Amino acid sequence: MEYLQQAQERFKQQAGAAGTDPRRLVGDSRRPSPPIVYTTTKTITLPDRVMREQRLITGFDEGPFVDAYRMLRAQVLQQYRQKGWNVIGVSSTADQEGKTLTAVNLSLSLAMDLAHTVLLVDADMHRPAVHRIFGMETTPGLTEYLFDHAPLTQLLIHPGIGRFVFLPGGRAIKNSAEALASPRMTALVQELKHRYPSRLVVLDLPPLLSRADVVGFAPHIDALLLVVEEGRTASTDVERAMEALKGSVPILGGILNKSGRKMLTLRQARQLLRIHRD
Ligand SMILES: Nc1ncnc2c1ncn2[C@@H]1O[C@H](COP(=O)(O)OP(=O)(O)OP(=O)(O)O)[C@@H](O)[C@H]1O
Ligand SMILES: [Mg+2]
Repeated sequence: MEYLQQAQERFKQQAGAAGTDPRRLVGDSRRPSPPIVYTTTKTITLPDRVMREQRLITGFDEGPFVDAYRMLRAQVLQQYRQKGWNVIGVSSTADQEGKTLTAVNLSLSLAMDLAHTVLLVDADMHRPAVHRIFGMETTPGLTEYLFDHAPLTQLLIHPGIGRFVFLPGGRAIKNSAEALASPRMTALVQELKHRYPSRLVVLDLPPLLSRADVVGFAPHIDALLLVVEEGRTASTDVERAMEALKGSVPILGGILNKSGRKMLTLRQARQLLRIHRD
């Protein structure tokens, strides 16, 4: 936890230097984003034991596991600054390849860089899972926002980790393809993108080759991170997914998950999968 403490210390110093008027900070990605006021946001306390069991980076001290996410964070932040991106989706070709764990740990590691407020959206409404990683039972979230018009501010959850909040998936639904393609979902992404430009939004998406229309939804986000599971993801599936996307969204990179070799670039992952196409 030493890293987190250091980061919190840094944040206090930065916040002190930046002054207290949040309006001054809006729109400048180099400065801390305005503090989230957790008036209606549910706050939960996450024991270290749960963090470790669930493989959350915040449960671990320095080491290769935390370093790997720090490297990923550096790559994401570089693109964010260069290209003005702030909405990133995490997907893979098939089930159970590590999308959710990657999305959660990427979000946490981004939130540990304390210039940023991070919102993780569980956009896998067919099989919502982010709440479980934080030790929670099913709780209202994106489904209730889209279908029942529940106010967003009452759905967000703050697990007591820095400036990190998440929107749970809510009750599971069968028609997740329609939900993802709905105008209300597109409007939500636009709202999240433009309201606070210095807030980073990470979406935990369903698999690219599932029935959910991830390919149709992809153009609404800034970039896609592709999780590939070593020894499991078929190279033909990656090819099919890339074909279906037809360049409609930039691929930020590839994560080789469940590998002794940790993070690889998409180019390296493709080489490993013998995909010789840029
Ligand atoms: N790097 C890893 N090391 C060990 N276990 C992992 C790793 N990544 C994921 N897992 C485990 O694999 C399982 C699937 O992970 P996760 O839920 O993140 O995948 P997913 O792609 O989001 O699945 P789904 O398609 O169901 O949404 C979980 O039990 C998770 O804890
Ligand atoms: Mg998942």
